Amino acid sequence: MVKYFVIIGVCLLTPVWPKDKTISMEELKLHNTSTSCWILIEKSVYDVTEYITVHDSLRYDIRKWCGTDSTMAYSKKDQSGKSHSKKADLLLRKYKIGLYQFD
Ligand code: HEM
Repeated sequence: MVKYFVIIGVCLLTPVWPKDKTISMEELKLHNTSTSCWILIEKSVYDVTEYITVHDSLRYDIRKWCGTDSTMAYSKKDQSGKSHSKKADLLLRKYKIGLYQFD
């Protein structure tokens, strides 16, 4: 019985469930300051404004990446060639605000 309620619920809610917001390069570029810092990593856009000062304590300033496609920078920790830890990847998820709109 419960199973049928779940199925009906999913069918009714799916069309009205909020979809991921899509964000264009134009919009991303507007958020290029430390008071509003969005970065693109792979397919998603993250608002990392609140994380900037935390990252400062790791002795690396991420401000220059605000408003940019930071995929390579994030995956290589800039020039270091090392990748971020699993912990960093999990933390990043918390800041996701939408999907990047590829042309
Ligand atoms: C935007 C581009 C970014 C660059 C270029 C970058 C680069 C770096 C560098 C150079 C370090 C210190 C050196 C080291 O620990 O090996 C570091 C550490 C770290 N970063 Fe980033 N970072 C970026 C964004 C982020 C973001 C958005 C997050 C999470 C929301 C994050 C989370 C961390 C964490 C947790 C560490 C500690 C070491 C680790 O767990 O890998 N970083 N990052």
